[in-house]
Amino acid sequence: MERQDNKQIKIVGSGFYVPEKVLTNADLEKMVETSDEWITTRTGIKERRMASPEQATSDMTIEACRRALHNGNLEVEDIDLIIVGTSTPDTLFPSTACWVQKGLQADHIPAFDISAGCTGFLYGMILSRSLILNGGPRRILLAGSECLTKITNWKDRGTCVLFGDAAGAVILEKSEDDSGMLSHYWKADGKLGNLLFQPGGGSRNPATKETVDQDLHYLHMKGNEVFKHAVKRMGEAATVALKKAGLTPQNVDCLIPHQANIRIIKATGKRLNLPPEKVYSNIHRYGNVSVASIPISLHELKVGGQLQKGDIVVMVAFGAGFTWASVVYRW
Ligand code: COA
Repeated sequence: MERQDNKQIKIVGSGFYVPEKVLTNADLEKMVETSDEWITTRTGIKERRMASPEQATSDMTIEACRRALHNGNLEVEDIDLIIVGTSTPDTLFPSTACWVQKGLQADHIPAFDISAGCTGFLYGMILSRSLILNGGPRRILLAGSECLTKITNWKDRGTCVLFGDAAGAVILEKSEDDSGMLSHYWKADGKLGNLLFQPGGGSRNPATKETVDQDLHYLHMKGNEVFKHAVKRMGEAATVALKKAGLTPQNVDCLIPHQANIRIIKATGKRLNLPPEKVYSNIHRYGNVSVASIPISLHELKVGGQLQKGDIVVMVAFGAGFTWASVVYRW
């Protein structure tokens, strides 16, 4: 187990952005053989947002970052590093974080991406903690952003009903009181990478007419396999992170699970014996927005006044890689 001490980092600003266009289950009924009833009962999703053709991941991220800065009463000059978690970068290189740096006119600071699927935001928090507490950047702008509709196969009903586009961002700095990140747990299992991946366009299958004809540039997923692993690993991650913080599920005031499927969300809450009112969900409004789901949930809870000072919040995610992680946070 990794060493953890009682020094903490905390969130001092947050914000998110979702595109205007709403794609409802009724819209999807016209595109593939599916029904509102199937999507609602199997996933909990009612609608999702869709970026416009000219909107890329960095465009959404820049807006989310501006809102997080405003929320934290901070200026771009107050930030020392930009990290963006994404699986749908504007370009394979440069990183989306560099496009965001350009958009924010943050010429004074470094910027890079994290690729850890839906777990990218929590990986980013864990990494930020080490950087900040070890004398690195004083303040980090951490975003999670995804334009999944751009890699969605709209003929594949097993995936096209699930995903949406969104960006969320937080600003992190060293905590001077007892609030902040208490513990974490992070893992990966690359052996299961091909259960959820984008096979084409990288150095394994460089983009050609054939890879496009074979739909390799789209997201591919074995949904029911992913489902089983997600439920098991999210329960495990939250339990271990709580233990590392010297807490038990009884201490938890709010669970923020990655919003992949309402059944995964409920099963994770159940594994921790939490009553449904302590388990946050907004999947009905956004679908699975991958790495953006936890920062959006955090911001909604914050502005909704649902988090009180001292509350124990557990964030937990699972995603492509496979990767999974949990962060225990005292509000
Ligand atoms: N509408 C109607 N029927 C659909 C459908 C759709 N959109 N998608 C799949 N089906 C059908 C399948 O073809 C299958 O039909 P069959 O029994 O005739 O073969 C049936 O529904 C059951 O398919 P299955 O894939 O076993 O369903 P499921 O209960 O596992 O639900 C998911 C599918 C994708 C909703 C679910 O597996 C899931 O959410 N997995 C996790 C995905 C995820 O979270 N990924 C990201 C991780 S971060």
